[in-house]
Order: sequence, then structure tokens, then C-alpha cells
Amino acid sequence: MSDAFIVNGHIIDPANNIDEVGDLHITNGKIDKISRNEKLADDQTTDVYDAIGLVVAPGLIDMHVHLREPGFEHKETIKTGTAAAAAGGFTSVACMANTSPVIDTPEKIEQIYDIADKTAKTNVFPFGSITKDLAGKELTDMRGMYSAGAVGFTDDGVTVMNAALMRDALILSAELGFPILVHCEEHNLNAGAVMNLGETSRKLGLIGSPNAAEDIIVARDIMLAEMTGGHLHVLHASTAGAVALIRQAKKRGVRVTAEACPHHWILTDTEVEKQGTNAKMHPPLRTQTDIDAIIEGLCDGTIDAIATDHAPHAPSEKAQGMLDAPNGIIGLETCLPLVLTYLVQPGHLTLAGAIAKMTVVPARILGIDRGTLSVGAVGDVTVIDVDTVNRVGITTSRSKSQNTPFAGWELKGWQTVTFRNGNRIGGHPSSRSKSA
Ligand code: DOR
Repeated sequence: MSDAFIVNGHIIDPANNIDEVGDLHITNGKIDKISRNEKLADDQTTDVYDAIGLVVAPGLIDMHVHLREPGFEHKETIKTGTAAAAAGGFTSVACMANTSPVIDTPEKIEQIYDIADKTAKTNVFPFGSITKDLAGKELTDMRGMYSAGAVGFTDDGVTVMNAALMRDALILSAELGFPILVHCEEHNLNAGAVMNLGETSRKLGLIGSPNAAEDIIVARDIMLAEMTGGHLHVLHASTAGAVALIRQAKKRGVRVTAEACPHHWILTDTEVEKQGTNAKMHPPLRTQTDIDAIIEGLCDGTIDAIATDHAPHAPSEKAQGMLDAPNGIIGLETCLPLVLTYLVQPGHLTLAGAIAKMTVVPARILGIDRGTLSVGAVGDVTVIDVDTVNRVGITTSRSKSQNTPFAGWELKGWQTVTFRNGNRIGGHPSSRSKSA
């Protein structure tokens, strides 16, 4: 718990409608006050950061991260994944349950908290799985895991194909209030697919997954949320159809929220031809029509949150070729610059609107007390330079893995420094690190 004084910054806190130049005080790790031109007493040991010309935002929250520990430590660990998060401007991450073993008991939720206490740079909020061992056969002890600190439940990576199990999970969600986060790909329509179904898959002779594989499950799960009153959260929405279904459901008052990842609103499936397995993920990259619909969904509030689906895989695994390589790309260190370059600069979202989708909105979905600069809140802060231009440098990544399609891309707008509880925990390696 530390004291920090971040001076002269453009403070943007969407939760409180704050958008003004000022000085942010963090005392004993908590937001203390916002003031103007205040002098600190000489004997202060406070960390002073001159944020003139920079944006001071609540610490960013990534609600969709694969930290891979336990079981896949060759891809990532809680230590390396959260170091990448801190470098990317995130102070909190929610981690997926598809580890080995799967996070499917209260004890395993406690283990994640224990490892995070010892090794994590950022706050770590674990999800538990919906079904035991992600097998889709039997529900887990969600009640017990929720008491142990799980922030929601998900079988991310696979779809719960049994609609009755999904119904039962959503009934418990309605009772206890946690979100059920769904990976939407109908397994039979998706069988053997390694990319989107379309012109490129036909050209490359690869099996493709149709948009319908996603849309069918989104529609089913919306119906189940409507029937039960549970809170459904659609993970990594990638199709125009999913956006339309979520929009209609929201209009009817269904408790549904959704997120989208940068790759799904920047890259099309043609990227597979250029980048091979670094463009292979589930759900797959789609078409420009889908990108346009997702951006529209982000603009009109249909898509609530921005998340990365940071999915590290070792170089040797990604080198196996399109048929055998695992799905997913890393995203923690590139998310904010991609948001600023592709959503804020073209005018799709305001800066405050984009920050909201990475702070207060995911905090509300997960029910965590983060994502604001309210007085008394945890002193988690991200400082952003919206004007700086940098290239995505893969050798400087803090992640154990390097599977990104954005390597070498020139992006405008980067995080400079990240504070957690008032302590500096990271930032972009080439950022100006100014102390007054
Ligand atoms: O591409 C993906 N990779 N999508 C998922 O849903 C799971 C993830 C993983 O665990 O690698």
C-alpha cells in the first residue's frame, strides 16, 4: 500500500463522469482526492508522477484472460501473464478455468488466489467452470466456488452443448447473481474447423466454421437467460448475427451482456493466408461485414465490454500448422493501443466510452469493486499517452508466448505506467517515465 501523486493529468473516470485536468492523490493504496495545483510538503515520500499531456484512467480490467497455471506453465504462468497485463495497462484480470486440472472446485479457486497472492503483479479474479472437468456432463459446485471467490462461471474453450445444464446454471445465476459466461460454437457445425467458413477457407482447402455455429448457441442461451432470469455473458462475440441477437434480447430486457476482442473487430479471415496459425483462434476471424456489425455493437452499447481472450501458446505448438496448432493469440500488451488506434481515433468510440468498456463495465459484470477513481476506491490507475506512436515489439513482451498477429504493427496511443494500490507495477517499455 503506497502513496502516489499523479499530477497535471487529464483525469477520465467514466464511472463518475469525471473528465478534467487535475492531480490524483493515492494515499495508503486508496484514491484519496482529486485536486488542482496543490503543492506537496517537502518531507513527502510520495511517488510523484508528472502526467502533463497524459490521460489518467482507472486501472484497466481484462475480463477474459488465460493464465494457464496450473498445468500449462510452458505457455504462461500467473506471474508472467500478470506481468504482461501490467505492461499493457491492466491492473485486474479475470482468468479462465481451462487449466489442468480445470478450476472446478472451491479448493482450486482458493489455490488460484494463493498463487496470485505470491506471484501476481495485478489483481487476479478467477472463474470456475460450469461443468466438471469441462466435460459438459455434470454441473460443478458453483455455490461453493462462488463463496470461495469465483467471479463467474464459464467452460470457455468449449460450448456447454447440453441445454438443460445451461438452464440449470442460469437458474443458479438468477438466485446468486453471478454471470454465466458462454463460449458459443455449436460443436457439430464446428467439427474439424480451423478457420471461418468462406472464400478463404475454400481457397486454402481448410474446413471452415459457419457463422451459424455461433449464432445458434447465442440464440439458445439468450432464450435460456430469458426463461430463467439468469445473467448471460457472451464471450468473444464474432458474428453480425450474434450482435443482432444480443441487441434484440437487450431490447426485450433479457439479462445479457457481451464482450468483443480486438482481433474480431480488426482482422478478417483473409489474415489466415498471411499469418497462418497466428490468425487461428476460436471463434475464428470472420468477414468485414461481421467487423462492421461488431463495431456498430460497440458503439450502440450492444457489446458492453472489450476483452482480450489472451490465449498464450508456445512457439513449438503454434508451429504445428493450421490443422494441429492450438487456437488463440496473446493480447494483453496490444489491447489498449489497438482500441485507441482502431476505435477511438477513427471516432467510433470516445476516449471515455472506450475506457468505460475496459474499466467500470467489466467491473460491474463481474461484481468486483474496481474500475473507478471514486474516493476510497482501490488505488489502481493506468496512465495513457494517446499521442505516442510505437511498434508492437514481440521481443519486449512480458508474456511467455509470442503468438500475436499484430507483431510489428505501428499503433498510436499507448499505456505509459500502471499503478496498483498506488505502486507502479508496469507500463510500456519505451514510454517516457516521468517523475517530478
Ligand atoms: O482461441 C481460443 N483459445 N479461444 C478460446 O476460447 C480458448 C482459447 C485457449 O484456451 O487457448
